[in-house]
Amino acid sequence: MCTVRIVVDNQTRRGLAVEHGFTVLLDSHGEQLLLDTGAGAALMDNLASLGVELGSIKRLVLSHGHWDHTGGLAELLAALPDLPVFAAPGVLQERFSCHPERPVRDVSMPAECRRAYAAARVHELTGFTPICPGIFATGPIPRLSGEDCGGPFYLDAAKEQPDPLVDDQSLLLAAGVLIPGCCHSGIINTLEHCRRCAPGVKIHTIIGGLHLVHADQERLERTAAYLQQLGLRRLVACHCTGEEAIAWLRDRLSCEVLTGASGDLYEY
Ligand SMILES: [Fe+2]
Ligand SMILES: [Fe+2]
Repeated sequence: MCTVRIVVDNQTRRGLAVEHGFTVLLDSHGEQLLLDTGAGAALMDNLASLGVELGSIKRLVLSHGHWDHTGGLAELLAALPDLPVFAAPGVLQERFSCHPERPVRDVSMPAECRRAYAAARVHELTGFTPICPGIFATGPIPRLSGEDCGGPFYLDAAKEQPDPLVDDQSLLLAAGVLIPGCCHSGIINTLEHCRRCAPGVKIHTIIGGLHLVHADQERLERTAAYLQQLGLRRLVACHCTGEEAIAWLRDRLSCEVLTGASGDLYEY
């Protein structure tokens, strides 16, 4: 059996700390693994509130290097210095969000977390990789579908080099559950990659961020059409999916579409 517990999210239903960030705790056949560390302020408090024994966490996977997924890394590694960390190349890249209506923001991994990462037991993932029984990391995801998966992301504050977020990856449970962090590779590219790398896994559930918050109508239509033909049973949209996009998908998809929140627990 595998359980998926949302530990940090932009929303909570259980009085847990809330922030713009994301963390999921997985338990697969008795092995506990964290995906991401949120923005930093909520992780340790929420783990404690949920009664998670830190010593039972045996692995950490980073979905990508953005601050809202890596900000709790220094505090977590201070408590668990031997924790193996799995991340794709590019996770330390300096990067910026250059939204047209907001000031340019540095959205890289925070400095103290970079230092902790440099001293950690890091495993670089360059391809689809089993992490522990029943759980795979997708590694970097080829962008083959032509899907629009852009955003206001750049490698420089002058907006000269778009950031392709090459380090973006998701987790796949052999039980048929896909767990993206922000899904900057695009959900269609991610699902196609899983289909090629794990053809025996029939994905019936997605739990995570889909980063559709600025998606235009065409992208939403294409995403919905792809998800609908997949025959999903459940979509738990979290973090950066966007409330309007969630409502829109709920109208279009015949599967259950839920808004995720910290404290939520799913069993497969
Ligand atoms: Fe995010
Ligand atoms: Fe992100």
